Amino acid sequence: MSLLSRLGDLVGDAFEQVGADRSFGTVEWSNRPDLGQFQCNGALAAAKSLGRNPREIAQQVVAALPAAGTFSEVSIAGPGFINLTLDDTYLAGVVQETADDDRLGYPTVSQPRKHIVDFGGPNVAKSMHVGHVRSTVIGDSLQRLLRFVGHPTESDIHLGDWGTPMGMLIIELHRRRPDLIYFDLDYTGPYPDESPVTLEDLEEMYPAAAARVAEDPAEAEKARQATQELQAGRPGYRALWQHFVDVSIAGLRENFDALGVHFDHWFGESTVHDRIEPMLRRIEASGVARRSDGALVIDVARPDDTMDVPPLLLVKSDGSYLYGTTDLATIEMRVEDQHAQDLLYVVDARQSLHFEQVFRAARLAGIAPDDVALEHVGFGTVNGPDGKPFKTRSGGLLRLRDLIQMVIEAAERRLEEAEIAQDYPEEERRRIARAVGVAALKFGDLSNHRMSNYIFDLDRFVSFEGKTGPYLQYSAVRIRSILRNAAEQGLHPGPIVPPTVDAERDLMLAATRLPEVLDRTVELRAPNHVAEYAYDVSTVFNRFYDRCHILREADPARQASWLALVGMTLDLLALLLDLLGIEVPERM
Ligand code: ARG
Repeated sequence: MSLLSRLGDLVGDAFEQVGADRSFGTVEWSNRPDLGQFQCNGALAAAKSLGRNPREIAQQVVAALPAAGTFSEVSIAGPGFINLTLDDTYLAGVVQETADDDRLGYPTVSQPRKHIVDFGGPNVAKSMHVGHVRSTVIGDSLQRLLRFVGHPTESDIHLGDWGTPMGMLIIELHRRRPDLIYFDLDYTGPYPDESPVTLEDLEEMYPAAAARVAEDPAEAEKARQATQELQAGRPGYRALWQHFVDVSIAGLRENFDALGVHFDHWFGESTVHDRIEPMLRRIEASGVARRSDGALVIDVARPDDTMDVPPLLLVKSDGSYLYGTTDLATIEMRVEDQHAQDLLYVVDARQSLHFEQVFRAARLAGIAPDDVALEHVGFGTVNGPDGKPFKTRSGGLLRLRDLIQMVIEAAERRLEEAEIAQDYPEEERRRIARAVGVAALKFGDLSNHRMSNYIFDLDRFVSFEGKTGPYLQYSAVRIRSILRNAAEQGLHPGPIVPPTVDAERDLMLAATRLPEVLDRTVELRAPNHVAEYAYDVSTVFNRFYDRCHILREADPARQASWLALVGMTLDLLALLLDLLGIEVPERM
């Protein structure tokens, strides 16, 4: 149980004893640490509900608190705020429990729910760019967090692999190389194992095809036709499409591997193709959809809407499906086959209307029962120094591959300037630079609330000072070397003894906060709380380390306790960084 809930229980008991509801005993961290470490403001609300004087209630509650053992100081401020400071021996006991627990005091959730996190969301034939950073980094952190707190979690990249862009690529290739066997209607296979195009070809073909289709209605019609034939199963088109997908996935994997991001499923929009027809038949039969000029739509507006929510278009009048159609069928798959209870979509906030429409349609059509949660976890944009969405110097979108390369090179330069890891073997130095670069990128993103836009400030992100990924990595590595040095001198951690100085007490208090921080982070789907906490922990640790000279300490019991505290801090920091997807190098 977390320290706050433990204290809340004690104070709750006291409220009960004075005739008030125990829920008034909620304890929080004090916003006036000069008055006490914790506070309870429940007497004011209790007084209101009981029609009594708040200060009097506070006095009675304080009198009913356990006489000794838990608190060293209890006082009442103002109209009835209760300030609480822990007894140092009690605090040391709590910290000992935390240090002994391999989950550092975080119990797994009591009601695990099957989660699916949909993130990444790249599209076939389009290279990933800076815009994909946020979905990838936030989504990965969320899957790590959900798993750690104890929810069975699966991640799915939901590859964009099934719409008109596929038909556009097919006709573009046909235009360029009409004699390829894939276009021969008399031939039905087997087809060559080797792709007729590379990823570079696809990336060049796609914008060319898109431009042609935008200009020429006849080309657009051809692309539509090809898409339909592909979806209907024309063998040559399917074989070609499979090459497009394979070649794209190989490129995507490189990016995700470089970022240390893993997906359980590489499903795509195409995965649910066979579900679409039966799903549409059921939706139509149930009467929630209507035909409109040959198209099939679901009205999802509600009388109390404050904004315009247009109907969700399921089938266009030309018979083709849309982004929302595959999303709806994907919800069906996730609920029916994967038994998901919480569906999270880590997608750009600009798609919020799309998800609102899809989620409403899923409810109306009975695809998502009420006990299945559907949630769009949106995020803002990555901006350049001018405050506008980040672009390359020539105005294009920066490819993710180039962006990763850029942060790694910046990390290399910074390591050199800071004279870190310079005498290590070349191989190891490179590995460290990669880890530092990726940490810079991830922390630069995750330290902002996901809904705010942020400025991509490479110099600040790779700095070893301030609130940055490299600073935290470096702190963790330094703590590890402190422990190593101590061990070399024959010094080992021992039982935690009560603190005597503030720097030590503050570190102990900070170490007890993990449960609340994680609960809050998961509830709000906001990894910035973990980022903030990691920074607090290392700041508090640095103060402790300045003030408490471990190796020179004369009292062996205190020295051993300090080493245990150092070890726990390392475990905590490593856990927090891991939850952000940041790796801690062995040494730096
Ligand atoms: N491929 C989509 C895009 O580029 C993102 C997919 C997000 N996930 C989803 N289930 N719609 O915008």
